[in-house]
Amino acid sequence: MVINDPKLIAAIAALGVEHKAGVSLAPKTSLEIGGTSDVLVIRKHESLPELIRLLKQSGVPHRLLGGGSNVLLPDGELPWVILQLSRQDPDVRFEGNNVFVDCAADLGRTVTTCAKHDLGGMEGLIGVPGSIGGALRMNAGAYGTQIGTYVREVQVYRAATGRIETLRGAEINFEYRHTSFALDDIMLSVRLELPSKPYSEILQGIRICNEKRRASQPLNQKSAGCIFKNPPGGSAGRMIDELGLKGHSVGDARVSDRHANFFINAGHASAADMLALIADVRQRVRDRYGVELEEEEIVWKER
Ligand code: EPU
Repeated sequence: MVINDPKLIAAIAALGVEHKAGVSLAPKTSLEIGGTSDVLVIRKHESLPELIRLLKQSGVPHRLLGGGSNVLLPDGELPWVILQLSRQDPDVRFEGNNVFVDCAADLGRTVTTCAKHDLGGMEGLIGVPGSIGGALRMNAGAYGTQIGTYVREVQVYRAATGRIETLRGAEINFEYRHTSFALDDIMLSVRLELPSKPYSEILQGIRICNEKRRASQPLNQKSAGCIFKNPPGGSAGRMIDELGLKGHSVGDARVSDRHANFFINAGHASAADMLALIADVRQRVRDRYGVELEEEEIVWKER
């Protein structure tokens, strides 16, 4: 989406929000897929309510892009202007077992920073790419850890009220790869409460998780992690593998040879290729197992 109304451009600039025109978005995502759009970089959280009010008033749809590690953006010119939060400095602050983290902070780096303060619990999340905000939105999890377990408070721009609000952890539903945040809520910062653990012990846990991940996942390839959620009691990866679909491809979109629930961009895949591969694999699983696989909330669609 292109913003070309000079009044709106001036009002955005007056808020201290940077307007970048015609940005190629593929390099901002781990799949390296996606078209172009104008990007608005938000440096101060306080400017969000007014910015979104202005965009709404001008009929300009928007979506927030976080770390880009769990998204499949459409090809061509996107029908939304893209909001990005710049990282606050410092992005992690400690008070006893409480850790205040900026949502633009990198998840993996946060896990290791906390470890250096003898705060553990999140070892399983090491190696999960993306931002703290993205991890919160989908309740990122791995190796028995889910971030939601440790969330005590979230500061969020609530689309429903148009205001920045603080939600208590107990007010938020954290489920398997799903939360009760509205799609257009924007997470800004979080207070986590982490258990005390000696650094050496946390490091050991981190090493074990890193090894497991390296052994089973295609870490050096362009992917969005697992494409499908596991169905209750089942494994999407195992089913796709059993169907002999490793290496199966549509254009440059390919089912990973290493882990069948990772779909990789093996070259210059388009969103259309990836969507066709997702649809094809879903159909084959449905035909063979009678199971309807549900995507992790990856694909950006019109709402
Ligand atoms: N399997 C196969 N073939 C494959 C892949 C897996 O047979 O190609 C089998 C494995 O041998 C194992 C079972 O399927 O018996 C489960 O596989 P794995 O242990 O790799 O875990 P997963 O259920 O596929 C989940 C998460 C991952 C997370 C790992 C580790 C989902 C959809 N995926 O994978 O999360 O890293 O556990 O905890 O819940 C993600 O969500 O993006 C993601 C990567």
